[in-house]
Amino acid sequence: MNHFTSVHDVDDPLGLLRLAQECKENPLKFNELGKGKTLGMLFYNSSLRTRMSTELAAYNLGMRVISMNVGDSWNMEFEDGVVMNSDKAEHIREGAAVMSQYCDILGVRSFPSLTDRDRDYSDYIISKFKQHARVPIVSLEGSTVHPLQSLTDWLTIEQFKTVKRPKVVLSWAPHPKALPQSVPNSFVEWMKITDYDFVITHPEGYELAESFTEGVKIEYDQDKAFEGADFIYAKNWSSYLDYGKILSMDPNWTISAKKMALTNQAKFMHCLPVRRNQVVMDEVIDSANSIVIEEAKNRTFAAMAVLKTLLEK
Ligand code: CP
Repeated sequence: MNHFTSVHDVDDPLGLLRLAQECKENPLKFNELGKGKTLGMLFYNSSLRTRMSTELAAYNLGMRVISMNVGDSWNMEFEDGVVMNSDKAEHIREGAAVMSQYCDILGVRSFPSLTDRDRDYSDYIISKFKQHARVPIVSLEGSTVHPLQSLTDWLTIEQFKTVKRPKVVLSWAPHPKALPQSVPNSFVEWMKITDYDFVITHPEGYELAESFTEGVKIEYDQDKAFEGADFIYAKNWSSYLDYGKILSMDPNWTISAKKMALTNQAKFMHCLPVRRNQVVMDEVIDSANSIVIEEAKNRTFAAMAVLKTLLEK
């Protein structure tokens, strides 16, 4: 594994999952490995979980961390061959190369514009970092996928499943703001490498890119999808087809106790942050079947597995 920007960077996903489980069992087992090594993290967008859990993961491995909000640094130019006479003071070519002198691994968070689908789906900024940095790049959520979250979700399902092949349902839910497709795209990618009974449910118009969903069952009737489910993974996303648009705010898609009653006493999952009583009712997220806090805890162990693998490379 040279980078960690999607599941496709991972040579042995099952091995990475097993390593995350090992890190969870003993978080300080490898605390000498990163001695003298530095993780740099660059945030183009807000974060709570990714920032704190990845920092903690690095510290658990003995690394140092330099974390920066992009607004605190120079505005960066990513295009080649331009006359730099605008507000952009530094080119990615120097910026990424210089950061590679200070850091052994670089993490980047960069959300999509939700206006230019082609550019977003090229994961433009993370791709530029991969091109010009001289160290491994870790996606802290890019414009199309969020692999640290998805590895965590897989780890969490393995922790809580009570049958060998659980039914896992990814359900769209309403939200007042247009959100990226990164988390659901990524969740689909990682679920596809398992043998789980995996179903996606969403209103018509919310189809994810076929490159992600090819071969996956899509059920437009949410009630039907929930029948017999062992895990409900709720997430809002904006339309991919009518790119970045909100097409529905239908409250019938909110995850309620009535909906959860259709399942096989399913565990409730969400990557967080979540809007209560929009995406999920209090009665569900506060119930004993909600595992969102344990899911967030697992972010640290997934990040440890990724950083350890890259350090050893
Ligand atoms: N789930 C997740 O990535 O959370 P943050 O946006 O707070 O990092």
